[in-house]
Amino acid sequence: MAIPEVKASTAKPVVPTTPERKPDPCVVVIFGASGDLTKRKLLPALYHLEQAGLLPKEIAVVGVARRPLEATFAPDMKDGIVSGGGVDDHDPALDPFIGKISYHAMNFDDDAGYAGLKDLLHGIDGKFGTKGNRLFYLATAPEYFADIINSLGRHGMNKPEADEHGKTACWVRTIIEKPFGHDLESARALNDDVNKVFDEDQIFRIDHYLGKETVQNILVFRFANGIFENVWNRNYIDHVEITAAESIGIEGRGPFYETAGALRDVVQNHVMELLSFVTMEPPVSFEAEAVRAEKVKVWRSIQPIHPADTVRGQYGPGTIDGKQVAGYRQEDRVHPRSQTETYAALRLEIENWRWAGVPFYIRAGKRLAKRVTEITVMFKQPPLSIFKDAEGKGAEGIRNNIISMRIQPDEGITLRFGAKLPGPNMSISPVNMNFSYAEAFGTSSANGYERLLLDAMLGDATLFAHRDGVEATWALMTPILEHWAANPIKDLPNYAAGTWGPPTSDAMLKADGRKWRKL
Ligand code: BG6
Repeated sequence: MAIPEVKASTAKPVVPTTPERKPDPCVVVIFGASGDLTKRKLLPALYHLEQAGLLPKEIAVVGVARRPLEATFAPDMKDGIVSGGGVDDHDPALDPFIGKISYHAMNFDDDAGYAGLKDLLHGIDGKFGTKGNRLFYLATAPEYFADIINSLGRHGMNKPEADEHGKTACWVRTIIEKPFGHDLESARALNDDVNKVFDEDQIFRIDHYLGKETVQNILVFRFANGIFENVWNRNYIDHVEITAAESIGIEGRGPFYETAGALRDVVQNHVMELLSFVTMEPPVSFEAEAVRAEKVKVWRSIQPIHPADTVRGQYGPGTIDGKQVAGYRQEDRVHPRSQTETYAALRLEIENWRWAGVPFYIRAGKRLAKRVTEITVMFKQPPLSIFKDAEGKGAEGIRNNIISMRIQPDEGITLRFGAKLPGPNMSISPVNMNFSYAEAFGTSSANGYERLLLDAMLGDATLFAHRDGVEATWALMTPILEHWAANPIKDLPNYAAGTWGPPTSDAMLKADGRKWRKL
């Protein structure tokens, strides 16, 4: 039976929030700009920000990559803004924005290239009035991060330059894309490299999930409302599930994915961030240091995850949206006997006063039945049922209350509770009270990159990872990765594309007397 729905609407008409602060003029320098991320996400995000009046007039973008793309880079970015950003290609604001984009070809280990870049940036300051402020964005393959950082240091581009009066009124910051390290050791080494050249307050380790409205809303839901926090603990909550399911495969990223896998690609970062937002203690303020400190406390309270509490899977051929799709091992540039996991599930516990004894089940995977990222908080049943007789009379009876937070798509929050079915009997049925972002606010949530680019320009690191946090999450994942590497499994692929993952994942919950919620 479909669960009936009660709609939640906004209490007052929505007034769009006006920007409180505008960033300073600056140049955004994107290393690895010939990659997909720049065209599909970063440039559309910058354009939307500019159109929303959130950027200063004096803004410029420089793409840096190895290939000589001087003639095609800006027009290619225009295509990206039109196709990836849903912008009309006759939009009159488009060409003026494209006019602010330049390109610089260089090898990332070539000193002459950095000297040339430095000159180019001075020229841009003169032409566009960007005042020496620099936002470097490292969007290259991760093996180049350290080289680029060190070279920026060697060329004195890591610190603001002094003006003719010897004063430094400008700033230099760097955003570093994921994956930040490959395991605990490499993450530490990268942190050491980066911290030698940049101060921690210049570094913005990006996880685009934190830019999603629905992810930030977890904190608002918990800490801007008086009624939820009281029940947000081991006394009332039975367990929590976090699902990050994708129906897409690896989209031509074989060489990258072969060295990553689901645990490194999504669980260590996106899913652990979601987990921290759901479980952290109220921070003293919504400021970078306070928020990041609470997150790290949660990750450090997670007990080492036992191999028996982990599941890995890999998709074989199957059907997605009625179309036959290849198995992982048949994808381009994937080893025909690859052991890389395209699905990972974990059971973990957080050993602190709030959460001791509450299991957290998390799963993430590619080529699953549908795209859905959702957090399900399942509450305990009432201690005593006075409606015992209401059960078994055709109604569904008493079920656990659930709060489910839909991160994407169909962003929103649902509360499931029991209601009396109309009629002479005391029969109970679950109903859903639903809040939908799109219905309540009439806007679909922006791509996470907009918010994060803007925050980095404003110097606000609240929604970025800190060194300690990155190392804490790698400390949890690394023993699992090592165990998996030392113990290959024979039955891969173990789920068909278009299903909900390997049967071992269901078995892990069944052993606890539970089931994954049907999404
Ligand atoms: C990226 C991963 O970080 O996140 C991809 O590398 C994944 O493999 C993507 O597809 C998911 O992001 P979103 O915003 O589409 O859920």
